Amino acid sequence: MPSLPAAVLRDPAALAEGLDQHGACLLLGFPNASATLALRSALRLLQADGNLRAAEVGHGRSHQLRIAIRGDDTRWMDADSGAAATAYLSALRSLRVAMNRRLFLGMEEEEAQFACYPAGASYHRHSDQFQDSDTRVLSMVSYLNDDWLPEHGGALRLYLPQGTIDVLPHAGTSVAFLSGIEHEVLPATRERLSVAAWLRKRAG
Ligand code: OGA
Ligand code: MN
Repeated sequence: MPSLPAAVLRDPAALAEGLDQHGACLLLGFPNASATLALRSALRLLQADGNLRAAEVGHGRSHQLRIAIRGDDTRWMDADSGAAATAYLSALRSLRVAMNRRLFLGMEEEEAQFACYPAGASYHRHSDQFQDSDTRVLSMVSYLNDDWLPEHGGALRLYLPQGTIDVLPHAGTSVAFLSGIEHEVLPATRERLSVAAWLRKRAG
């Protein structure tokens, strides 16, 4: 199985090169330990207050069908999501500018959502580009669970042209990939917490 290139936040050139050469790249140490803790606390609070919602998969689908496609509960980050979310969105903005400068991707906005996959939940193979619009250019997922072991499952499986790659959802790991690349989330034996983000160009 091939492996993914890895970069760190302060070396955007390495991230750009990884994306350019492989379509996907790990970003190690982002968010850092204290930011990860703060994001996890914010997600736990949303959960405790009943502010997560079953993720949408399209209109008019039955509960059974939705769960078969995608079993996570989510919440968009916005101005009211707290300091950790604001800091995360601002890091995304810097990344967007840095990637535009190097790869000429023309991305103009960022969006991010908290996600919680209960044990056993998965997300069927998909692309992040919607059928009727392809404004999502770059996807990024940041993982918030400490002490994740391979036997817990829950890998992100990326279907890259050069082969299939599994990324374990460890805290302190983010993975960036071109949004047209198909991927899936395998079921885990424990709850799986993450932030999923997209850098987009404007519709047009
Ligand atoms: C998504 C997604 C991957 C992951 O939210 O679209 O594919 O590893 N998430 O959580
Ligand atoms: Mn996805």
